[in-house]
Amino acid sequence: MSKSKEAKTNYLKLLLPYVKKDKGLLLFGLFAMLVTSALRLLDPLILAHIIDKSIPNNDLTEMFRYGIFFVVVVIFSGLLSYLQIVLLSRLGIKIITQFKSSVFKHLLKLPIPWFNQQPVGELIARVESDSERVKVLFSELSIMIIGNMLFFVGVFVVLFTREPGITALMVPAILVSIVVYWFLIKYLSKFYKRIRERYADITAKITDYVQGMQLIQVLNQEERVIKELEESSKAKKNLETKTSFIEYGSQGVFMFIFNVVFVVAIILISAPKILVGAITLGTLIIFVQYMYRMIWPLMHISENVMQIQRSFVSLKRILELTELGTEDELFTGSKQPSFDHEIVFEDVWFAYKDEEWILKGVSFTIPKGSQLALVGASGSGKTTAISLLCGFYPIQKGHILIDGQELSSLDFRAWRSKIGLILQDIFLFPGSILENVRVYNDEVPDEDVHKAINIVQLDEFIHNQELGLDAELAERGQNISQGEKQLISFARALAFHPELIIMDEATASIDPQTEAKIQRTMKTVLSGKTAVIVAHRLTSVLEADQILFFKDGEIIDRGNHHELMQTSEEYRKLVELQMLSEDKSE
Ligand SMILES: Nc1ncnc2c1ncn2[C@@H]1O[C@H](COP(=O)(O)OP(=O)(O)OP(=O)(O)O)[C@@H](O)[C@H]1O
Ligand SMILES: [Mg+2]
Repeated sequence: MSKSKEAKTNYLKLLLPYVKKDKGLLLFGLFAMLVTSALRLLDPLILAHIIDKSIPNNDLTEMFRYGIFFVVVVIFSGLLSYLQIVLLSRLGIKIITQFKSSVFKHLLKLPIPWFNQQPVGELIARVESDSERVKVLFSELSIMIIGNMLFFVGVFVVLFTREPGITALMVPAILVSIVVYWFLIKYLSKFYKRIRERYADITAKITDYVQGMQLIQVLNQEERVIKELEESSKAKKNLETKTSFIEYGSQGVFMFIFNVVFVVAIILISAPKILVGAITLGTLIIFVQYMYRMIWPLMHISENVMQIQRSFVSLKRILELTELGTEDELFTGSKQPSFDHEIVFEDVWFAYKDEEWILKGVSFTIPKGSQLALVGASGSGKTTAISLLCGFYPIQKGHILIDGQELSSLDFRAWRSKIGLILQDIFLFPGSILENVRVYNDEVPDEDVHKAINIVQLDEFIHNQELGLDAELAERGQNISQGEKQLISFARALAFHPELIIMDEATASIDPQTEAKIQRTMKTVLSGKTAVIVAHRLTSVLEADQILFFKDGEIIDRGNHHELMQTSEEYRKLVELQMLSEDKSE
């Protein structure tokens, strides 16, 4: 228990820098909270004074004065609590926006291996919804909890000084009802959790279905999908109905107990005393008024406490993200890279996990200006090899040398800036073609973008777009063809004048015409450049200076096309297979 408490304070401390900038706002919010809580106590006391003193004394001027005082207090406390909510909510939003962006900035620096283990949905949920939960810590929650606590203390102090007998009777009754209500909320929270799970389940299903819409329609699965979603929705609906029945039912009972049972009890107890003059009518009014004012805060106390617990869980989860080591901690090299001669892989061993070797002693040399093709079966380690070359993962054994310098000793950002990477799964950002080519880097001059577009022969395609380069691409480039996507990704790699082009050919097949165009383009793109190509198409390997044949993480054969046709059984098989499929497609 004490440990978790310690953790909480630590995490709160980490939030301090965000709050510091707006210390004034926070202090004002807290001060306003103090004043509104005091004012909430005050107006029944004024009313009591009028009833107990001014009326019996027939003092009209005093009655009038206190009446105005009463009105002023009510209006002022209303205004102040409004101001306080607005200000503190603004503070919450501001803090959390900064918080979110610093979390996201940190995410951008995390090493690729870490992302491999993260379900994307969960990550998004962490950054987005967890931060929202943390936000309430600053705004609504803190106002309610601290404000109400102050108010309760005030209530009991006033009541005890006025009428200790009745107050002593009231306290246990109120405590018992809070405890009962607490258990009820605990019980309900299980339902809330199940509702949230159902909700997440439905959202996930809908996301999947929308993404696979074409398949669903082609396979005529609409009915089944509808049925499945309906069943999920129905289950959620039933659960929600049951929950709200319990929730509102118990709220009703709780309110009845406070509003009616307790109030009647107070009246019954105090009535005889009022008759003999031991208690004034004003005191009774104070009791009844305070009772009414305590109901809502009391009912929400258990909920709020649970919300706070959840906020802390969220805070902890987000802060765990920010505590993860960045790439800069993983790759500490600082030498400036130069690439004038060659890249050498020397007996490189690599495993994503433990000792499950994916690359087993791979060695090869890429002289500057030459083109290397990697071929081999699916899963043989080709993509892995080029990921290592980009410096996404540290290797376990062996050396990767750039002009004789260890890759791990280089400043990894400087090294990556020399690489034009074209991935197997082409990724396009939602945004314009222009933004996709220069990847939001305004320093890339328009001229370079146009040149790149021209080299990949996309001029005509761009020309046909109404907005030209500013034509918007949908998420993941769904509104353009596979071939156009590839060409855009070529242009992207070119616009940065890379010294090394690394390309993982897309496995998806495209029509022969586009294919031919891509081949022509590649020739121009690659001529005279150093390139490493994971080749899935025969045409790409024919031109390569050197071909490495990968099998189960090892290079089993190497040479150019003609040499391999002579020496490698496996390579010949691969070529024959390719030719067969090409014959078919023509
Ligand atoms: N991020 C990863 N985490 C763990 N294992 C991985 C990861 N990426 C790939 N692997 C495993 O490493 C092996 C090699 O994968 P790799 O992607 O390098 O193959 P590939 O030769 O590029 O195949 P393809 O031709 O299908 O693209 C596979 O067995 C794969 O399951
Ligand atoms: Mg691959």
